Amino acid sequence: MSDSAAPAKPLLRPAGAPASTPATASHIPPSNPTANSIGPSATAKPLAANSPFAPRPAAPPRPPVSLSSAINTPARPTVATSSNAAAPATASLASSSTNRPTLTPAQFTFFEKLIYELSGMRFEVNKSYFLASKMELRIQALGLKDFDAYMAYLQSPQGRPEYGPLVDEISINETFFYRHEPQLQAFKEHLLTPLAQARRTQGQKTLRLWSAASSTGDELYTLALMLREAGLWGKDLTFELVGTDICHDALDKARAGLYRKYNIRNIPPSLLQTHFAYAANPGGGETWQLSHDVRSSCRFQEGNLMDSVRCAALGKFDFIFCRNVLIYFDEPSKEKAVQHLANNLKDDGFVLLGHSENIYSQRHILKPVREYAAAIAYQKAPPGTPKL
Ligand SMILES: C[S@@+](CC[C@H](N)C(=O)[O-])C[C@H]1O[C@@H](n2cnc3c(N)ncnc32)[C@H](O)[C@@H]1O
Repeated sequence: MSDSAAPAKPLLRPAGAPASTPATASHIPPSNPTANSIGPSATAKPLAANSPFAPRPAAPPRPPVSLSSAINTPARPTVATSSNAAAPATASLASSSTNRPTLTPAQFTFFEKLIYELSGMRFEVNKSYFLASKMELRIQALGLKDFDAYMAYLQSPQGRPEYGPLVDEISINETFFYRHEPQLQAFKEHLLTPLAQARRTQGQKTLRLWSAASSTGDELYTLALMLREAGLWGKDLTFELVGTDICHDALDKARAGLYRKYNIRNIPPSLLQTHFAYAANPGGGETWQLSHDVRSSCRFQEGNLMDSVRCAALGKFDFIFCRNVLIYFDEPSKEKAVQHLANNLKDDGFVLLGHSENIYSQRHILKPVREYAAAIAYQKAPPGTPKL
């Protein structure tokens, strides 16, 4: 999982750095079966109320990334080369004394522009070290010499499949179950229940929910659990739950449904007990796996919020959650993403954004229609609404 506050690392990790070991899900109890085990099986015990989560174990090594997992961007982007890139005016990127990977201004511009064209994510020059440390991992995975060699590879025809792993590497996948719970409660009480009732009255039996930057699935699975909590699951309505993300790694993790304590810490105990089972992780640390029942009720697929064709192919939704991704976009990317959300929204459907996300400049596309203590719900602005 990526995080912008990455610790200092040497320029390139030595070859032969530890290989990843995939987690295997099973109902194997932890070494002390009375502590920290959850799930419905005979070996899995409920989380003890007085047993706070232990400190989060170190993240397992990143699995090898397949070069065949290219993102399906429609066209090869134009990228700046070291000779034509404009150096950021205030850049101070080289630091031979700190032993940190450093990008020259031209290298930074190259990577920043390519990432922007692939994903809409904008990295300011103060994130140069973050980019350098991520590019370093790709250089190592590919066995290349340095940043210039990686840039040349990315610009070559055979480098195109590398776009996917590159975007995977810089994606910031921070997420957890029941994130910003007051907003979720407002959704459940004030939006979901009435819209479900409206659909019954209209004789429409399916509600469609989209987690539009689903990361490792925590958000979409939270919605799946909330539908069960609300007593709506398995009754007269059916639900289609779709999660999309640009990051293949995150989607693989979502499908596997294996989570660490950090991610599941906010789940109500009764739901934890019913829907999770302890799963040994030979890679280190403890993980819990979401039940097959909940996992199979959700679909995850690749989706780039910048890609109008692939967004349109998803169809119209009753609810769209697009949380904590617009913050990585600049205004043009944000406008593009918001337009896609509106295009994919039913006329009486709602969009919910991240707590701190602001689409003030896009109110002509999506307008705030309901404001609760902890949530703002957006609907499509009427056609012809002037841009502010
Ligand atoms: C911080 S996570 C947010 C996850 C979840 N929505 C939440 O709020 O907990 C941001 C996610 O946005 C994804 N992302 C970034 N750019 C994207 C794009 N252009 N299209 C789709 N997903 C994107 C990243 O891969 C990452 O998984």
